[in-house]
Amino acid sequence: MNILITGGAGFIGSHVIRRFLKRYSNYTIFNLDALTYAGNLENLKDIEESKNYKFLKGDIVDAGFINKIFEQYEFDGVIHLAAESHVDRSIEDPLAFVRTNVIGTVNLLNAFKDISSNDRSSKSRFYHVSTDEVYGSLGETGLFTEETSYDPNSPYSASKASSDHFVRSYGETYGLPYVITNCSNNYGPNHFPEKLIPLFIHNIIENKPLPVYGDGKYTRDWLFVEDHAVAIDLVFHEGKNHETYNIGGFNEWQNIELVKLLCKQMDRKLGRAKGTSEKLISYVKDRPGHDLRYAIDAGKINRELGWKPSVTFEEGLERTIDWYLNNAQWLKNVTSGAYQEYYNKMYS
Ligand code: NAD
Ligand code: DAU
Repeated sequence: MNILITGGAGFIGSHVIRRFLKRYSNYTIFNLDALTYAGNLENLKDIEESKNYKFLKGDIVDAGFINKIFEQYEFDGVIHLAAESHVDRSIEDPLAFVRTNVIGTVNLLNAFKDISSNDRSSKSRFYHVSTDEVYGSLGETGLFTEETSYDPNSPYSASKASSDHFVRSYGETYGLPYVITNCSNNYGPNHFPEKLIPLFIHNIIENKPLPVYGDGKYTRDWLFVEDHAVAIDLVFHEGKNHETYNIGGFNEWQNIELVKLLCKQMDRKLGRAKGTSEKLISYVKDRPGHDLRYAIDAGKINRELGWKPSVTFEEGLERTIDWYLNNAQWLKNVTSGAYQEYYNKMYS
């Protein structure tokens, strides 16, 4: 089987590629990635020589390129992760999110639809990796289920909601076999240091301020990235066509509580006096349209596919911190921009 994974040089995609290469020697895994600022092939250094792995540099917005590679490789399945993924950037430049997340997704759907359905194996499907942010914000109580109506509040979540709708519409209109998952906040190794956890780990190492938005009472449901990769593997192979599954960590934290825990663990790891890192906390202007709370009911994927998170938050956070401390060069290359010069030259 030829499996196309888009966005494989990014955070979650790199973990998915590693898992698939380890488990499925009968697949050829194609990693299609434009290597934007968020794409870093250093994330895949350990597997780049694998015989059944091929990197394709390209932009999903370029329909000509997409059609060409689909003709050339006749992908049996697509796991689509490539996206602009950062909410703050979407507030600055919404159109970039429309281009990649909406137009890019529709280009992939068109190309996949045009592969003759006779040639498809029964497992062939288009898998859209999406977010819980499409559901908007919860109040103090309640959980997002697969029945919660869409109510996106940021340009990022609006673009992901739109791409979810396009995927579903291709299922209804053209009979395209698809699955969608809507997942909560991931954390773990290789996370780009613009998102809360890796940014704050980086700033603590560098003794820089920790910018907590608003009063810090916003709540997210955190999931270790390798548990997400396990869920993606399961849904791709065993999920039902035309279904949506929510994925979450059963692990809600108010931002400020999470930041305080992170500060404590970092003080211990860095051998700094208790309370050192907390002094770096600085309350700053709130994110516009900031969603108060996300929390996932992951009951459906648990009942139907037997998935549940395996890594506790304490363990996951410790593994994440250790990874950043042991991979100082990765962090240096990312913050200096060296990673882009290196790989963009290689694949120009
Ligand atoms: P990321 O920003 O780390 O990686 C995105 C990858 O997509 C990068 O490698 C980038 O180079 C590539 N890319 C961007 N635009 C492209 C384009 N036009 N053509 C080809 N490649 C392009 O993102 P992530 O955090 O790994 O998220 C992956 C997917 O999972 C996204 O679709 C995101 O919406 C979804 N998701 C993320 C989270 C999370 O907490 N990070 C949670 C739920 C869902
Ligand atoms: O819920 C899933 C989503 O989680 C994914 O779809 C997105 O791709 C991913 O980026 C993430 O979105 P968030 O906006 O929740 O993640 P972020 O790390 O940007 O922010 C987490 C919380 O921390 C949020 O309430 C905003 C707050 N925050 C974030 C940053 C970067 C701060 O207080 N300060 C910061 O500097």
